[in-house]
Amino acid sequence: MYYKKLKDFPKDFLWGASTSAYQVEGAWNEDGKGLSTQDMLTPPENTTDFKVASDHYHRMKEDVQLFAEMGLKAYRFSIAWSRILPEGRGKINQKGIDFYNRLIDELLKYNIQPIVTMFHFDLPWSLAKEGGWINRSIIEDFKDYAKILFENFGDRVKYWLTINEQNMMVLAGNLLGTKTSKNLQETYQQNHHMLLAQAEVMRLCHEMLLDAQIGPAPNISPVYPATNKPEDMLAAENWAALRNWLYLDACVKRIYNPTAWAFLEEKKILPNMKKGDLHILKAGKPDFIAFNYYNSTTVSASLPDDSVKYDKYDKKKMISEPGVYEVVENSNLPKTPFNWEIDPVGFRIILRQLYDRYHLPLLITENGIGLYDELDEDGKINDDIRIDFYQQHIMEMQKAMTDGVEVLGYNPWSAIDLVSTHEGFRKRYGFIYVNRKEFDLLDMNRIPKKSFYWYQKLIRENKVPG
Ligand code: BG6
Repeated sequence: MYYKKLKDFPKDFLWGASTSAYQVEGAWNEDGKGLSTQDMLTPPENTTDFKVASDHYHRMKEDVQLFAEMGLKAYRFSIAWSRILPEGRGKINQKGIDFYNRLIDELLKYNIQPIVTMFHFDLPWSLAKEGGWINRSIIEDFKDYAKILFENFGDRVKYWLTINEQNMMVLAGNLLGTKTSKNLQETYQQNHHMLLAQAEVMRLCHEMLLDAQIGPAPNISPVYPATNKPEDMLAAENWAALRNWLYLDACVKRIYNPTAWAFLEEKKILPNMKKGDLHILKAGKPDFIAFNYYNSTTVSASLPDDSVKYDKYDKKKMISEPGVYEVVENSNLPKTPFNWEIDPVGFRIILRQLYDRYHLPLLITENGIGLYDELDEDGKINDDIRIDFYQQHIMEMQKAMTDGVEVLGYNPWSAIDLVSTHEGFRKRYGFIYVNRKEFDLLDMNRIPKKSFYWYQKLIRENKVPG
């Protein structure tokens, strides 16, 4: 549908921005914080670790002041589980609680709504050593941790996200540094435990906090068939089931997606279920669906005797399942300097698909473009490519809202430069530049980029500039 007049954004629309604890905070071993899986990684060659990151832990007030200057109405950040519970369970680290209390209070001082992710890729190392999500007891651990968060921050935090990109941890855990399983059956067993833990925590949230809302935060991508061959369409549906619907059907419809289940059964990698598991799933209900959107995926049919294929840029990323699907490049789409396809229309498509399928309000918790931003001779960052990226995506979101989709807010990735999951500090996403290099920490000064002022104007006027 083409519109001459788009609907205005609601007055209370949550224009925000996102980060995650281990990618921005630094202070990896300070004030009683325990180790997490991310602290224990050996980074890829020529790539920094997460120990200092953007030093947000020490510069939190300055950062929040800049967020307020940008006009943010919301800030989506994660809490480091190992800062609250250094051993993953047991003794609470009061200094960790204090840090997040200060952050939340600082945000509220400027009327910025905190949106809190409870777990974003940084599992406490003590739990990972025991096998991480493979142990069923971690469901209780996650619940106990959630209870501590609700008790300490629930009076001020009204938006909660359970687990960031559970689907990406399952599908690309080796790239994200989250993998603790030894084989695929274990991976899907871990997934099952995460689904149960999520359901339990959503239930607990509703019991403990009457005016809070909670939802999942997967990475969702519309899947296109490479051609109009019915076999390609079938492959696209297969991949959508395995990549998207498995996770959201379990959380929202509270059932296992049948196509995904049949795939797991055929591969003999079904999770072991206990009596009562389906009741646990049924008891947790999300209030909204939060999701991260970066790009669409295009898929063609694959024959059962094809070999498994790997991404040509990310060599550890598997992009096919013989007989099920094969991810292919989409020649209609431009790419970022890091070879990610750019598809703003895909954003409108997936917003509509999600709303159609689940009838729940949507909250965008990530969307953005990684660039090699460099200071020019005047000490400025002219990130016009980023502005263009946001302009197009926000326009498509507005079209989706005009199509009737309910969207609560938009929190692009990222509020400030931070360390990418596996491509270091050189891959920058922020509205605010952090003056450090991959290894040389320089002065870590904060410098608003051109996109900062563009987003500021958009938020002030509540409409896309231009
Ligand atoms: C999402 C993650 O997958 O994408 C973020 O939730 C991540 O943690 C972001 O940083 C961008 O990915 P990358 O690999 O470029 O850092």
